Amino acid sequence: MSFRIGVLVSGEGSNLQALIDTVHGRGGMEIVCVGSNNPDARALARAEAAGIETGRFPAGSYGSREERDAVLASWLGERRVELVVLAGFMEVLGPAYIRRFRGHTVNVHPSLLPAFPGVHAIDQALAQGVRLMGVTVHFVDEGVDSGPIIAQEAFDPVTYSRDIAAVERRVHEIEHRLLPRVVRLIAAGRVRIDPENPRSVIVDEDGVGDD
Ligand code: GRF
Repeated sequence: MSFRIGVLVSGEGSNLQALIDTVHGRGGMEIVCVGSNNPDARALARAEAAGIETGRFPAGSYGSREERDAVLASWLGERRVELVVLAGFMEVLGPAYIRRFRGHTVNVHPSLLPAFPGVHAIDQALAQGVRLMGVTVHFVDEGVDSGPIIAQEAFDPVTYSRDIAAVERRVHEIEHRLLPRVVRLIAAGRVRIDPENPRSVIVDEDGVGDD
């Protein structure tokens, strides 16, 4: 019995590719479907090239965002997905989705949350002149990048002369390692919410490697 993963994407899909390359078909984990709000996302072509089922769910094709979110949740549910990974999924999922997949959905975000949630996080951090930037992987709740934090990795943007292209490359390099690592930990049952504090996540990293 494999651990069944669904991935939601909107754009390029480099994080999806990292998951395909380092998680899919390994250690009992399988990406069973990839869904997108954007029918033209390059990420969908990456999924299809890997033989993974895709689905297109543009919000404009539904009566409301709520209706689309419900259809998307049913699609993932029918595929018996145990974990949903938002890998560059650029829309906020509403209660119709969260009700079904709370605690079973993670997101990767290019800042050290709770600093700089939402879009343009890298530009905002550079404009603010922060000395620590980074990547966060967190559980998804009904807010914008606001759920319990599972993993973070930081770097000093001065090392990259605060140059946006170099900083973005560094962010992606971290994302492509950190997100698969969290997925492996969840699949191995090593991640749980602290019963004493629902904001806090307990991660048991012993013996779970990077690849
Ligand atoms: C990543 O930087 C991720 O943090 C953000 O959107 C970007 C998606 O990149 N949420 P890609 O589509 O995985 O290449």
